[in-house]
Amino acid sequence: MTDEDKNEMIVTPWEVKGKVDYARLIREFGTQPLTQELRQRLAKYMGGVHIQLRRELFFSHRDLDTVLDLYEKGIKFVLYTGRGPSGPVHIGHLVPWIFTKHLQEAFDTRLYFQMTDDEKFVVDDEAVLSETTGLAYENALDLIALGFEPKNTFIIYDVEDIDLLYDIALEVAKRITYSTARSTFGFQDSTNLGWIFYPAVQAVPCFIHKKLTGENVPALIPAAIDQDPYWRITRDIAAKMGYYKPAQIHNRFVPGLGVGGKMSASEPETAIFTTDSSELVKKKIWKAFTGGKGTIAEQKKLGADPDVCTVFQYFLYLFEEDDKKLEERNRRCKAGEVMCGDCKKELAEKVNKFLGEHQKKRLKAKDRIDEFHIKR
Ligand code: TYM
Repeated sequence: MTDEDKNEMIVTPWEVKGKVDYARLIREFGTQPLTQELRQRLAKYMGGVHIQLRRELFFSHRDLDTVLDLYEKGIKFVLYTGRGPSGPVHIGHLVPWIFTKHLQEAFDTRLYFQMTDDEKFVVDDEAVLSETTGLAYENALDLIALGFEPKNTFIIYDVEDIDLLYDIALEVAKRITYSTARSTFGFQDSTNLGWIFYPAVQAVPCFIHKKLTGENVPALIPAAIDQDPYWRITRDIAAKMGYYKPAQIHNRFVPGLGVGGKMSASEPETAIFTTDSSELVKKKIWKAFTGGKGTIAEQKKLGADPDVCTVFQYFLYLFEEDDKKLEERNRRCKAGEVMCGDCKKELAEKVNKFLGEHQKKRLKAKDRIDEFHIKR
C-alpha cells in the first residue's frame, strides 16, 4: 500500500479515514457551504455567533436557508439528531449535541433524538444486541447531562420503540430501490439484510413529528458530515410522502489525539471518553500528537506548528472560547515561546474541569432517564 492509498479519504457513516478534505466533501456530497450570511442569520436568533459557528466547526448545510425562511413566515421546525451506541460517548460526539441545545434554546423547538442500537448491531459482526441496547441507555445519560429538558426532548430507542417507527420505515423503504441504496452506501453482495433495511429506520425521525402531533414541519439535523448519505436518500422521497425535505447543518470531525483521523471509539487510546478518569485523560493528552519540534532548543529557535497540532485543535474547537487568548496561543506557539508540554497540561486541566462537571450531571441523569423516553 502506498502512502497515497493510506491517506485516501473515506467518509461514510461507518468509516472515516485519511485526511478529510471538507471542500471536496461539499462538492462530492452536493451540500452547500455555510456562508457568512447564514452564520449571521443564525446569530440573530442565537444571541451572537456561537463559538462552533465562529470557528467554522459547522461548515456546510442543506436547506438551512429554506428552514429559516419558513421559520420567519411562522412555520417552525423540529430538531433531530442521534447516536449509534457502539461504546462510551467521546467528546467529538458531544459537538453536534451541544450545538443542538443552543439551537433548541434559540428557536424553542422540539428535539427528537434517535438511539440506533439496531444499526450498531447489524453493522458489526461481533456486536451483541443486548449490549448495544444497554449502551443506548448509558449514552442517553451523556445527552441528558448537557442540560436538555424532557418537556421538549424525546429520545427514541430503536429496538424498544420499533412499533412507533415501523409504519413510516416501511413507507420509506418501499420508495428506495436497492440500486439507489447500493450506490449511496456502497452495499456489497455480502452486506446483511438488516444493514440494507436500516437506512429506512434512520429516516423515520425526520417525519415522526407529524404522526405524533398532526403538524407538518421540516426537521433540521445537526450532525457531522459522515451522516449525510442517510439524508440524501431521505430528501429524495420526502415530497412523495407529503413531508418537507429534512435540512442539515454539518460539523467537521473533532480529531483524535493521534496523527490524522477523527476521534473514534474504535481507537480508544486517542479518544477522550466522557467516562474517562482525570488520570487517564492526562495520560492520553500527554501522548497527543503536536506540531512540536524534536528538542526544546529547536522549538525555542524555530517555533512549532499549531495547524497540525491536535492539542491546538481542541482549544480551537472546544476549550478556548476567548478569541484573543486563542490568537495569543497561536502566536506564542509559532514564535517558540510556549512548549508542547505547557499546552498539554493546560488542555488536560480544561478537559478535566469540563468532564468533572459532566460526570456529576451524568450521574444525576440516571434518575431522570425515563422522563426523556418518547411517549406515544
Ligand atoms: P454516531 O454515534 O457515529 O455519532 C454521533 C454523532 O456524533 C458525530 N460524530 C462526530 N462529531 C464530531 N467529531 C467526531 N470525531 C465525531 N464522530 C462522530 C456524528 O456525525 C453524529 O452526529 N447513525 C448515527 C446515529 C443517528 C444519527 C441520527 C446521528 C441516528 N439518527 C441523526 C445524527 C443525526 C451514528 O451512528 O452516530
